[in-house]
Amino acid sequence: MVDPAAAALRGARKVVVFSGAGISAESGVPTFRDDLTGLWARFDAAKLATPEAFDDDPDLVWGWYEWRRARTLRAEPNAGHVAVAAIEARVPGSVVVTQNVDDLHERAGSKAPIHLHGSLFAPRCVAAGHPATVDAAPASDEGRRLPPPRCVECGALVRPGVVWFGEALPEQAFRAAVDAATECDVLLSVGTSGVVYPAAALPMIAANAGATVIQVNPEPTPLDEVCAVNLRGTAADTLPALVAAAWPDR
Ligand code: NAD
Ligand code: APR
Repeated sequence: MVDPAAAALRGARKVVVFSGAGISAESGVPTFRDDLTGLWARFDAAKLATPEAFDDDPDLVWGWYEWRRARTLRAEPNAGHVAVAAIEARVPGSVVVTQNVDDLHERAGSKAPIHLHGSLFAPRCVAAGHPATVDAAPASDEGRRLPPPRCVECGALVRPGVVWFGEALPEQAFRAAVDAATECDVLLSVGTSGVVYPAAALPMIAANAGATVIQVNPEPTPLDEVCAVNLRGTAADTLPALVAAAWPDR
């Protein structure tokens, strides 16, 4: 099954790599909906991942995201992230669009991933969106409450720079992602359950515009029917094999 995907990738002028939490799973960063290990099997999203949750208990929410940031800082990019950077090196017209808030694509060499759901490394104040700086070494014990810092510009509370439930995606980022999906020859969807919109619409947008959509995921997802090729495997195994098959001489 890798061969048709490799052929499509080799012939592509423009590739979009669309990633979800699954690409970071083999780096030890938990996904959301995997049974037992997923974040929402262990934590209550309504108490941690909505603007109301932050208003109700900023110390709980800030502490949780600092715990996640600490885990991310301890993680290393895996072979899947490195393979994505290799695709970008071989296809200059590539764009990485990620739903993840970690920095593992950047640390693997991807130049400017589009973060549709924000970043754990871009906190901002709640009043005016002033960028804030945070401790290089965040507190890391799970469940620890931490008071959020105050904005040095205006004194307002600082919040995590991630997209919560009930919030819109950053408009410019989503527009750039839709443009890339509309113009690409291949969209490679990796490690997403494809259930959270509007991000999950990108594979369909690409397919409707004539692109070949390839999915890498050990499990079936609602995106299966949109994909020309479904590679049942993990990111760290499948992506390096796909790159080697697409560019055997490099
Ligand atoms: P989420 O989408 O992961 O939460 C999903 C759960 O929230 C579902 O069970 C759903 O039933 C519930 N939910 C849906 N709508 C809701 C609403 N309006 N109010 C309350 N609950 C609702 O939540 P999230 O906020 O997007 O995730 C938390 C943050 O952690 C995200 O920004 C995510 O990117 C980040 N994270 C990143 C990585 C990574 O970067 N690799 C991995 C895990 C988590
Ligand atoms: N390699 C590839 N895919 C994997 C791996 C792996 N090693 N491990 C798990 N997966 C797959 C799972 O089968 C699942 O389909 O990754 C997917 C992870 O799905 P989710 O946990 O739902 O994460 P994601 O799709 O990124 O969620 C989308 O919703 O919760 C919000 O903001 C949050 O950005 C997130 C968005």
